Amino acid sequence: MSKKSLFIKTYGCQMNVYDSARMADVLSPLGYRLVESADQADMVVLNTCHIREKATEKVFSELGRLRPLKDRPEGAILAVAGCVAQAEGEEILARAPFVDIVVGPQAYHRLPQLVAEATRAAGGVLDTEFPIDAKFDLLPEPTEAQAVSAFLTIQEGCDKFCSFCVVPYTRGAEFSRPVAAVVAEAERLVALGARELTLLGQNVNAYHGDGPDGVVWGLGQLLRRLAEVPGLHRLRYTTSHPGDVDEALIAAHREVPQVMPFLHLPVQSGSDRLLKAMNRRHTADDYRRLVDRLRAARPDLALSSDFIVGYPGESDADHQASLTLIREIGFAQAYSFKYSARPGTPAALEANRVPDAVADQRLQEVQALLLEQMRAFNRATVGTTQRVLFEKPGRHPGQIVGRTPYLQAVHVEAPLSRLGREADVWIDAVATHSLAGRLCQQDPETEAAA
Ligand code: 5AD
Ligand code: SF4
Repeated sequence: MSKKSLFIKTYGCQMNVYDSARMADVLSPLGYRLVESADQADMVVLNTCHIREKATEKVFSELGRLRPLKDRPEGAILAVAGCVAQAEGEEILARAPFVDIVVGPQAYHRLPQLVAEATRAAGGVLDTEFPIDAKFDLLPEPTEAQAVSAFLTIQEGCDKFCSFCVVPYTRGAEFSRPVAAVVAEAERLVALGARELTLLGQNVNAYHGDGPDGVVWGLGQLLRRLAEVPGLHRLRYTTSHPGDVDEALIAAHREVPQVMPFLHLPVQSGSDRLLKAMNRRHTADDYRRLVDRLRAARPDLALSSDFIVGYPGESDADHQASLTLIREIGFAQAYSFKYSARPGTPAALEANRVPDAVADQRLQEVQALLLEQMRAFNRATVGTTQRVLFEKPGRHPGQIVGRTPYLQAVHVEAPLSRLGREADVWIDAVATHSLAGRLCQQDPETEAAA
């Protein structure tokens, strides 16, 4: 079998990062090996994101840049995967007829077949069908060495239908993988070198997978089971909906040491009027009370969130309510986005748009406040000891980089033999995007081995 090169460009969320790795796995038996650039690649896959208009437009401009690859004598195969493929498959083939394959997120296991068809057919082939349960059964398991921190998709799709969001349309209805499949994949990832797993799902805490005991398990129970996997030091999960945080999940935060005290819990807005319009099914006070319960269970818990500014009809009072909520909760980190009307979503039909200039101004205010909170959170770690899981060599020789429970990068002078292990680190400085520290105590065994 001849060796061929494959370049995958990933946009958007961590689910796409996970899917890109699975696509590489499924194409590997055909002789495809991953390379770092599109220039010489025999096949290029764009794994796309449809969440906001900007993300979608990037795909079409990238396709324009890639077009010359088709003019080479042997012509590369060009594939568009991900949520833009799912939502706008026909439009891609119309706007960029040189594309060979358009494949939706539920059809990746059929990529080898699509590659064969594309090499035979003139014109692009399209596969955006939706048999979601087949995807996980048919995709190969990871076989490559894993990063210290790896992703594991346990749930896909969403039934919440927030009014602004395309996910229920591009990723479809909620589907949870069975517990046994998740545990088997976790064990495999750990055997391949992972020490931290981030469980992924568009609405991950709606997880309801078939348990080995014949009953349905929630995320709390799954986390407890995964914590028993030997060699697995840390567990995280993302992204959650506040309405699906149940008592069992809070208890897992309280009782399972592997579950990290850092939670991405999007709230979107601090205004009840807007939360209602967004069909979020919770109020700002529901969110406050939930955070109180989580913090009572795990006092060192820190939070991250998502905010949308400029949702149709957002008044200045609504905007102030978001700023108030942010001040009250205090986030370690958060993302904020200007509302982007997505075709096919209910919010896109609303007439009372917020003028762009007003939305820009509000976005700046929200981002400035969130940045201030993030800086304060990072500064507060200086002079404390943090448990750090070392992930990779640093840029300077003799330095390695790890992460605190709060995902802050920490640079430390230490031998490479520390990679994949945790240690206590005394934090002595903070830079814009990372912390610097020193190992609290020497570990005689590792130092001797190094
Ligand atoms: N416009 C702006 N932001 C959006 N998000 C989802 N849909 C939109 C949209 N139409 C944001 C939400 C979500 C995050 C992943 O992206 O904040 O939590
Ligand atoms: Fe989209 Fe998240 Fe709402 Fe589901 S819960 S519709 S993924 S914003």
